[in-house]
Amino acid sequence: MKKSPLNLPTIARVISQKMTIGNLTTAILTASALSIAAISSGCSQPEPIEQNAPEYGLVTTDDANEDIDTYVLPQDTAILDEPNADEIFYGKRLLNETKRLLPEHVGAQMNCNSCHISQGKIPLGDPYINSYNFYPRVMPRSGKEVDLTKRINGCFQRSMNGKPLKPESPEMLAMLAYMKWLSQNTPKEQKVDIQNTGKVDESLTPDPVRGEQIYKAQCATCHGDNGEGIKDSRGDIVFPPLWGDESFNIGAGMARTYKAAAL
Ligand code: HEC
Ligand code: HEC
Repeated sequence: MKKSPLNLPTIARVISQKMTIGNLTTAILTASALSIAAISSGCSQPEPIEQNAPEYGLVTTDDANEDIDTYVLPQDTAILDEPNADEIFYGKRLLNETKRLLPEHVGAQMNCNSCHISQGKIPLGDPYINSYNFYPRVMPRSGKEVDLTKRINGCFQRSMNGKPLKPESPEMLAMLAYMKWLSQNTPKEQKVDIQNTGKVDESLTPDPVRGEQIYKAQCATCHGDNGEGIKDSRGDIVFPPLWGDESFNIGAGMARTYKAAAL
C-alpha cells in the first residue's frame, strides 16, 4: 500500500474557502471525488481483465445461409494498424458526437449512436457491422435502389431531423471508412450472423395510458418527464430526447410502430 500524498481535509478547506456558500456542495463533492481518486491510486493496480472479443458466425447471404467462417469483433485499438486510421477514427467520432461536430446537419438533439448503440457494434442495437456489404440494395418501402451514402443521408434527414452531407465530403467518407473497417473485409457474398433489432409484436394494440405508466416507471429517470432527454452542463446529449422538436421526425424508422414502437 502506498500512502496517499494528498492531505484531503486541507484540500477541502482551501476549496471551500475560495468558494461562496452556494458552491459549498461542489466543494464537498470535489473533496469526496478527490478522496475516492486518492484511495484508488493508493491501492495496488489490478491486472487488466483479458476479455474475449465477441465472435459471430459468418454465413452466406443466399437462402442456404451456410455457416462458413467466424467474424471477430475488432477492438478500436486495431484501427491504429490501418493505413487510413485517422479517417476511421474521425468517422467514429462523427457517429458519436454528430450534433456537436455537425450542427448544420443535425436538427435533433441526437447523435447517430443515440440509436446505433455502442459504436454500432452490438446485436439488437442496430449495428453497422453488415451495413458496408448490405448496400446498395433495393429498399422495401420505396422500391428504389439505395447505396450506403444515401442510406446514411436518409438517417440525417429523418432520424436526425437534419440535412444530408455531400457524398464526397470528408465527413461522409470518414463514416463510410469506419463502417468498412467494422466489416473486417467480410466478402460481399457473406454476412455476419447478428440480429439488428428486436421483433415488435404487431398483434398488440398501442395503449397510450399504459404506455404513460410504463414510461414514468421505467424511462423518465433518464429521458425526462416529457421525453425531452437530458444534456450535460456543456449542452452535450447524455440521454437523447424520445419525441418532440428535438428528436427524430415522423419520417424516421423509429416513428413506425412496427419497427420501434416509439412515437
Ligand atoms: C432516431 C434513431 C436513429 C438515429 C439518430 C440514426 N439512425 Fe440510422 N437507423 C435507424 C433505424 C431505426 C434504422 C433501420 C431502419 C429501417 O430498418 O428501415 C437505421 C438504419 C441505418 C443504416 C442502415 C443499416 C443497415 O445495415 O441496413 C445506417 C448505415 C444508418 N442508419 C446510419 C446512421 C447514421 C450515420 C446516423 C447519423 C447521421 C444515423 N443512422 C442516425 C435509426 C436511427
Ligand atoms: C439508464 C438510463 C436509461 C433508461 C432507464 C432508458 N433509457 Fe433509453 N436510452 C438511454 C441512452 C443513454 C440512450 C442513447 C444510446 C446510448 O448512448 O447508448 C437511449 C436511447 C433510447 C432510444 C433511441 C434514441 C432516441 O432518442 O429515440 C429510445 C427510443 C429509448 N432510449 C427509449 C427508451 C424507453 C422506451 C425506455 C423505457 C422503457 C428507456 N429508453 C429507458 C438511456 C436510458
